[in-house]
Amino acid sequence: MRHLLKVFFKSPDANPWTVLIALVLASFAEGLGMASFLPLLSVAMNQSAEGSLAYDLISGLLGSIGLSVNLMNLLSLIVVAVILKATLTIVAMNHVAHAVARVSTGLRARLLKNVMAARWSYFTSQPVGRMANAVSVDATQAGQSYFMAARVMAESIRALVLIIVALTISWEAALYAIIVGVSIAGSLNFLVRLSKKAGYRQQKRTAELVIHLSDALNNMKPLKAMAKHEGLERLFTDRIAQLQKALHRQVISNVARTSAEEVLIVLVMTISFFIATDVMGSPVTPLLVVGVILIQTLGAVGKVQQYFQKSVVFEAAHVAVQSLIKEARKEQESNQGRGVPSLNQSIELDKVSFGHKDLPILKDFSARIVANRIYVLTGPSGAGKTSIIDLILGLHRPQSGQVLLDGRSLEDLDLHQWRGMVGYVPQELALFHDTVRANVTLGDPRISEADVEESLKVAGAWDYVTKLPEGLDTVVGERGTRLSGGQRQRVALARALALKPKLLLLDEVTSALDPKSEQDICKRIRALAGQVTIIAVTHRPALLAVADEVWHLDSGRITSSTSETAKSPVNQKA
Ligand SMILES: Nc1ncnc2c1ncn2[C@@H]1O[C@H](COP(=O)(O)OP(=O)(O)OP(=O)(O)O)[C@@H](O)[C@H]1O
Ligand SMILES: [Mg+2]
Repeated sequence: MRHLLKVFFKSPDANPWTVLIALVLASFAEGLGMASFLPLLSVAMNQSAEGSLAYDLISGLLGSIGLSVNLMNLLSLIVVAVILKATLTIVAMNHVAHAVARVSTGLRARLLKNVMAARWSYFTSQPVGRMANAVSVDATQAGQSYFMAARVMAESIRALVLIIVALTISWEAALYAIIVGVSIAGSLNFLVRLSKKAGYRQQKRTAELVIHLSDALNNMKPLKAMAKHEGLERLFTDRIAQLQKALHRQVISNVARTSAEEVLIVLVMTISFFIATDVMGSPVTPLLVVGVILIQTLGAVGKVQQYFQKSVVFEAAHVAVQSLIKEARKEQESNQGRGVPSLNQSIELDKVSFGHKDLPILKDFSARIVANRIYVLTGPSGAGKTSIIDLILGLHRPQSGQVLLDGRSLEDLDLHQWRGMVGYVPQELALFHDTVRANVTLGDPRISEADVEESLKVAGAWDYVTKLPEGLDTVVGERGTRLSGGQRQRVALARALALKPKLLLLDEVTSALDPKSEQDICKRIRALAGQVTIIAVTHRPALLAVADEVWHLDSGRITSSTSETAKSPVNQKA
């Protein structure tokens, strides 16, 4: 129940008070209709009900607008009350409908904002499918969780008003209804707990399924190529069967609760009726009124539980999105530096130590990159080349030592602005399932059509792009699969060049190219010398020839460095 109240009252995207006011008014309108019922019966049966609180209230109300208590007026009052109730319910639920949409889109927006701002190491520890599931399935269900919370509130208010009305008609009957209603709800509460458990299980299984699916889709080619997709299919079938079980439990506990409640109410009603008429010898007519009150009140209490049961099913999804938001918020990249970055002289790594958990990668590493020169980093796999690039980008932070831009620590500089000055081609590049143009601009409005053309030309991609069926508007396929490996690399290079960066970081940018294309790209990179600082990581010799400096790295240390042009001191501090 605590979670439900939190969802209803604490959701930042919904105003609970407007909904509550409309719901209270709607319930009062319904209560008015019900209170009119007793006078109506007595008038219809020519019996006097004067003296009862409900009768006095209704005759007082009619009297205040100059009407007497007669069949016509009472029927009209009931019709007006029903219309009023329906209208107010629509008003309240209209607010709820807007709130449901706002709650799930609000959660999505906060999730994306916090996840995007999280530090890089957080991403590397998270399966992509977890985010995908939270943004799509869980956020939608969290909206439903709000909807159900609102319905529980509506039914609770309704039950409360009906109980008050019942008390004005016959307090004994009302008290009896409360005791019976609460007892029935209590005895069926185990089914609500079952639903909740099934809801949590369902959320977990769905998330697992999406995580596996996104992983599998990213690796579809080797899976298909080595005929491993059948094993994967079996894994999916198992997960789907588990999910099915959770869904089944959830539905059946819902149906079981509603049916059991129905049976229990009828049982209580018939036994009570029998005792009242046969054992106690009460007259039947007043019992009818009591019966109506009983059914209404018991029904209202039952509905509270019914919606509560529905709401707990969605609790898990709401909890999952919220905890992911909280987790990502804790992992925010600290970008406290306000200094405006520049790269006119150098990038320095000053006694930098860095590693992952128990794996030290760099220890007291010092090196200097002079602006507007070309550096090539080479060395065995795992030597720490990509790690150096990540440190320069501020994606990783040194455990000790510092990275300096023009002599100022990266910690004091605005990281966002710094990265805005960088063109980067990652080692494991993947293009977006979009056009060539969109893949070059990445939605940046500052990049003009002329910039796109020029950067594609510099990257050596213009010729084949113009030969594509729709030129710049050709969609490159999921992760760029409709282009060859080498073509993808050139589009990625064009993307890195499009904003005329101050620093160009190229991680294995020629790995998928044939020797001729590689030579071509190397020449183009050389042509950029003097205008931009370039750090290129490579295992291949072609790029070494165009470098101003070559660093050979091994186990996080520069084992040798060569200055191809012999103009500048290399690695002065190392
Ligand atoms: N997110 C991570 N968590 C734990 N260890 C990591 C992580 N990323 C990299 N490493 C480890 O850090 C070491 C250096 O990795 P790095 O990517 O810098 O190597 P590299 O020189 O770029 O290698 P390659 O030539 O294969 O790309 C490796 O031993 C690698 O296993
Ligand atoms: Mg690498």
